[in-house]
Amino acid sequence: MGRIEALLSRMTLTEKLGQLTMSAADQAVTGPVVAPVIAQGLARDVRGGAVGSVLNLYGSERVRAMQRLAVEESRLGIPLFFGLDVIHGYRTLFPVPLAEVGAFDPELWEQTAREAAREAAREGVDMFFAPMLDVARDPRWGRTVEGPGEDPTVGRALAGAKVRGFQGTDLAAPDAVAAVAKHFCAYGPVQAGREYASVDISERTVLEVHMPSFAAAVEAGVAAVMPAFTDLAGIPMTAHRPLLCGWLRERLGFQGVIVSDYNAIGELMAHGVAADRIEAATLALQAGVDIDMVADAYRHGLPVALERGLVNETQVDAAVRRVLALKERLGLFDDPYRRCQGPGPEAADALARRRSLARRAAASSLVLLTHHGAVLPLRPGLRRLALIGPLADAGAEMRGSWVAAATEHGQISVLEGLRQALGADVIAHTPGVTLSGADTSGIESAVQSCETADVILLCLGEAGTMSGEAASRAGLDLPGCQRELALAVLERAAALDKPVVAILFSGRPLVVPWLFEAADAVIAAWFPGSEAGHGIADVLTGRASPGGRTPISWPRSVGQIPIFYAQRPGGRPFAPNNRYTSQYLDVPNDPQFQFGHGLSYGRCELGNLRVTPQRCHLHDTLEVSVEVRNTGPRAARETIFLFAHDRLASVARPVLELKAWEQIDLQAGGQSRVTLRLPARELSFPGADLQMLFEPGEVELLVGLQADRACMRSVVVNLTC
Ligand code: BGC
Repeated sequence: MGRIEALLSRMTLTEKLGQLTMSAADQAVTGPVVAPVIAQGLARDVRGGAVGSVLNLYGSERVRAMQRLAVEESRLGIPLFFGLDVIHGYRTLFPVPLAEVGAFDPELWEQTAREAAREAAREGVDMFFAPMLDVARDPRWGRTVEGPGEDPTVGRALAGAKVRGFQGTDLAAPDAVAAVAKHFCAYGPVQAGREYASVDISERTVLEVHMPSFAAAVEAGVAAVMPAFTDLAGIPMTAHRPLLCGWLRERLGFQGVIVSDYNAIGELMAHGVAADRIEAATLALQAGVDIDMVADAYRHGLPVALERGLVNETQVDAAVRRVLALKERLGLFDDPYRRCQGPGPEAADALARRRSLARRAAASSLVLLTHHGAVLPLRPGLRRLALIGPLADAGAEMRGSWVAAATEHGQISVLEGLRQALGADVIAHTPGVTLSGADTSGIESAVQSCETADVILLCLGEAGTMSGEAASRAGLDLPGCQRELALAVLERAAALDKPVVAILFSGRPLVVPWLFEAADAVIAAWFPGSEAGHGIADVLTGRASPGGRTPISWPRSVGQIPIFYAQRPGGRPFAPNNRYTSQYLDVPNDPQFQFGHGLSYGRCELGNLRVTPQRCHLHDTLEVSVEVRNTGPRAARETIFLFAHDRLASVARPVLELKAWEQIDLQAGGQSRVTLRLPARELSFPGADLQMLFEPGEVELLVGLQADRACMRSVVVNLTC
């Protein structure tokens, strides 16, 4: 008998349900249940075998002490595992996911994940509640910041990179952690962008848009999956048997652990599908949920459900087996303290390596949205830079949402980064206003500081906590009096004929068309993480090329939301001068910035597009190649996107669908041919019956620098059966 079966045969029901229970400690508060209250009973529960895993406890000594209780003082000595939300770094923060996604660099995504795992695993963390894979097309939803943006193909690539990075090649390795793909699935389309609201979308959209990233995570061997808090057309995901059992487990063959979201089993009562904890626990267990996070639904509900015959012990055992199997995969039975090694002798080197990666990631994630003149990169020998705005000296805010173990200190602000890059005496810093306060008395001195400046740099945006969980916003303008500050500065700068560069910090696109019009350049920095100030200084000074491209369509108006490039044409697609076509009376249809938009300091042009073969079968791989020339004055990193459009199909297809992308570094005047590979099967789609269909006929392939058909090169291929 193997270890797991031997253990199982000795376990009492309480001990079994303990393995299915994840309790919260109080080092982080990530939900509404009062963590300190639960945390008080934690040691007792661990000794009693009533808890199998813990969230929000980290640090090698603390984890070691708690683990010791489980291993030495509980009857069966089963080790615990420890989970934490390490969404974009543990102590060293990399850019928030939406920002890092915009670097369009899967190698980078994997490297930052690997480093986060290395850092956290030394401090007792066995599991990350990441990657967050929810496609988001409504930036009012605060969690847009945590995920892949609007595109399912990007979501797939992100899933693979992050799972590989977190888990490494061997989950038992002391520097590997179990990844949790979350939140399964279709959490992004919450009604009106309001957090935790209901979701009601078509099965086709679920299949085409929201499932692929999870399928990719499973394919990459993800250890666990977390169902979303939300309901999908009335069925809460925590109780969604067809999707959890039918699709995830049976169809995709996922054998790992399903861990509920925070109190989500208990919340089945609030959803109105369970009368009490007994019914809630029954529904979740029957749907295949193995672990009850934070709530006591399994511990208290399942014993009664068993007595009443609502569930049986075989179902409980199956869940316990999966949990124990994960502990075995994590190597915890062999050495329960393997992830409690503490910093170690190479800590300083490791930190330096991580910091330099964070700096590179920050620079690669910045999106140069507009650049009207030639203000950037800043010319050497600049004498005075007026640094204005509440986010100029705001190291702690640079962390964005989900800060894990990163404290407020040690995060590089823009002020600090620029002081180091340009010299302290060059920078004249005036905040002007606070992030969201009503006091405008500081605006005048900020405006004054423009008088002596060569360049004005405005640092504006949201606080780090204005995006992430429980952070939906209905208006996407600048909070507080920042608009007033910016307008006053822009007006004075215009009168003085001085250039203004604005840096926007946010967890989502902000709707500030007036700023895009008036500033000489605007950079979307999102939240760049621990090395924010250095990464920003690198881009401003031209040491690094702005590499980011927006991974989400940037609306002009909140009224355009949901806005995304992969729309279907409809029967009356927009035509200028024809009122009876799809359009608004008051704003254009197109976004402020298209998906994939981002300028560089070079100027790249595409030409001479080729594809082979032009006639292809399901198992062929297409090679699409295009010439890229940098005709601009400086080196550039360019991202080349390949889209497809099936113009005539049995089901109306989106006007563009991203299929692949490649990046290239080109010197000024440089030229190169880029080849994108596309397996023809990627041109299949769910037919009318939702079964995958490779339909004969013509498909247009388009290559461009963003999702703007007007600037693309295209060829047509023929699919044959
Ligand atoms: C969030 C999850 C998170 C969990 C644990 C929940 O409120 O939705 O994303 O992993 O808390 O902190």
